[in-house]
Amino acid sequence: MRARYGVPLGIAAAGAAGLIYSAGFEARSFRLRRVTVPVLPPGVRPLRVLQVSDIHMVCGQRKKQRWLRSLAGLRPDFVINTGDNLSDPEGVPEVMDALGPLMEFPGAYVFGSNDYYGPTLRNPARYLYEKVQGRHGLNGNAPATNVVHNPWEELRDGFDAAGWLNLTNTRNSLKIDGFEIELTGLDDPHIKRDRYARVAGGPSAAADLSLGVVHAPYLRALDAFAADGYPLILAGHTHGGQLCIPFYGALVTNCDLDTERVKGLSTYTEAESGRTSYMHVSAGCGTSRYTPVRFACPPEATLLTLTTRTSA
Ligand SMILES: [Fe+2]
Repeated sequence: MRARYGVPLGIAAAGAAGLIYSAGFEARSFRLRRVTVPVLPPGVRPLRVLQVSDIHMVCGQRKKQRWLRSLAGLRPDFVINTGDNLSDPEGVPEVMDALGPLMEFPGAYVFGSNDYYGPTLRNPARYLYEKVQGRHGLNGNAPATNVVHNPWEELRDGFDAAGWLNLTNTRNSLKIDGFEIELTGLDDPHIKRDRYARVAGGPSAAADLSLGVVHAPYLRALDAFAADGYPLILAGHTHGGQLCIPFYGALVTNCDLDTERVKGLSTYTEAESGRTSYMHVSAGCGTSRYTPVRFACPPEATLLTLTTRTSA
């Protein structure tokens, strides 16, 4: 009897322990990652950019809210929010409260699919077989039906009232200590809302630095930003793979980006032009409310210190 059931029971116990760890500990183990990116022209002081992403707020997530509020202590020069703030249609007030201290700083944002639509129950295995089939969530499927429409307009109005710049298929700019930072954003490619033609043309000569910002790092968005000559692209969406294998890494990116660049700082080269951009993909600090687990991929925000190109 013991030999017959011992192995399945052992696997079940290990699975249960992993689930308890992933949901109870790691998914709530928030941390700050720091990276340095040499993209500034000579003679400019370093700029500190805080990127927050994929908050996926569900009402009552007090620990995440306290941690987000604490990030204001970093005193960044500006904040970039790369979307997916919600996993709960009722979550807007708690997002606003959690981001309130950060909205005291200059900032800009793009939205992700989870800002527009409520979360849906999905079999996590779909991420794997959609990857095999070359399909990626809503992007590769027919338009979503029977979805819950989130009150994203309230998010937009709250961010706008705080002075954060809406980069939805839009170009805008910030001035920090007389230094002009051009920000070019796309709406979310994951649900085919990106319209690069509206923002095309590349960095303007008047800008001291130009950044491309997008929620989901689909290749068509990265190709467009890189070919146009943006030195740095910021994105989120991937959750860093969310459920990763220790010493191996991510299995999926939930888009057509390769898993080697699923999170962190990397470079991206557009094939035809040969132009290369730095790219930073945030693993984000949340999960869908229906898959509230992370493994070997803790929730994060990133403080990017932008330095001069000659100091690389
Ligand atoms: Fe997300």
